Amino acid sequence: MNESDPKLRSAHSIAHSNIALAKYWGKRNSELNIPAVSSISITLEALATKSSVTFDPHSRGDSLEIDGERFDTEKISVVLDLVRTQSKITDAARIQSSNNFPTSAGLASSASGIAALTIAAASAVGLALSRKELSMIARRGSASAARSIFGGFVELHSGSQPDGSDSFAEPILDREDWPLEVVVAITQSGKKATSSTTGMLSTAGTSPFFDTWVSSAPAKLAEMREAILALDFQHVGELTEQSCLAMHSLMFTTVPSLIYWNEGTISVIREVQRLRASGTECYFTIDAGPQVKIICEPANSASIVSTISELPAVVEVRRSRLGPDAQLVNPK
Ligand code: DP6
Repeated sequence: MNESDPKLRSAHSIAHSNIALAKYWGKRNSELNIPAVSSISITLEALATKSSVTFDPHSRGDSLEIDGERFDTEKISVVLDLVRTQSKITDAARIQSSNNFPTSAGLASSASGIAALTIAAASAVGLALSRKELSMIARRGSASAARSIFGGFVELHSGSQPDGSDSFAEPILDREDWPLEVVVAITQSGKKATSSTTGMLSTAGTSPFFDTWVSSAPAKLAEMREAILALDFQHVGELTEQSCLAMHSLMFTTVPSLIYWNEGTISVIREVQRLRASGTECYFTIDAGPQVKIICEPANSASIVSTISELPAVVEVRRSRLGPDAQLVNPK
């Protein structure tokens, strides 16, 4: 394949993973992938996906390779179809991505991957879209990806319009304005058993707590937004743990139950509580996987890394500052 063929349209990008402080779980419209609740996340500099998108009239169908391994194209083709419709092209696309962290293990590789794909695909076909529009397209592939279009602190609105036209992400605070750090404790690097998409549909249909989760979300979100804007670390941390544990309670009470944690997850939670009790302020959060992310202020991150690294169940520890916007990059 000659990549300098003028019929090929290519672009390259980088996007960073994110973790929600106020979690998203559940959809108000599955077809359009509109979240049932709004969410707030921070983007993570150390967890990045680089993506190359090439639209090729000779390709038979979309293809996705992540770190050399072929992956299913269902989610990415949703994004590519929206880009194709808007740009009136019909070519299939080849996507080649690389992650600098384990794929599909609860580290939001779909968020960074789909955000990177969206930016590169729109650029490859010459679509000049605002970041709000890009986040709406990314949301259709994976709602958390809408947040990875932006760096720093980001809110994803669930909105109320049936067509999802008010469900997009926007930045609420720059990373320079509150340079928090995150210590990522990886307790297992294998792939997760149940995808978030499947898991949250199951929760909505079976957990007795789902309706309360949805109805209590707006007040909790407003409290989180206010605490972030006030740079109130203790309040943000407490709300982060509450949101995480409320979401995992939904997962536990799903039928059949969704237990993403392993023994290592619990050991890290306990260590975070011990660190706090001994005066090191830090807070945990966990997505749909066994890894634990610990939010802290920069002055404490090195000592948290060394304490967490000593836990027998922790296989790897990463330290991250808050990440930037997703962006286009030059080819390697
Ligand atoms: C637990 O964005 O992966 O990480 O929209 O179905 O692709 P889909 O789900 P996804 O779910 C993320 C769920 C979460 C919490 C969060 O990031 O808010």
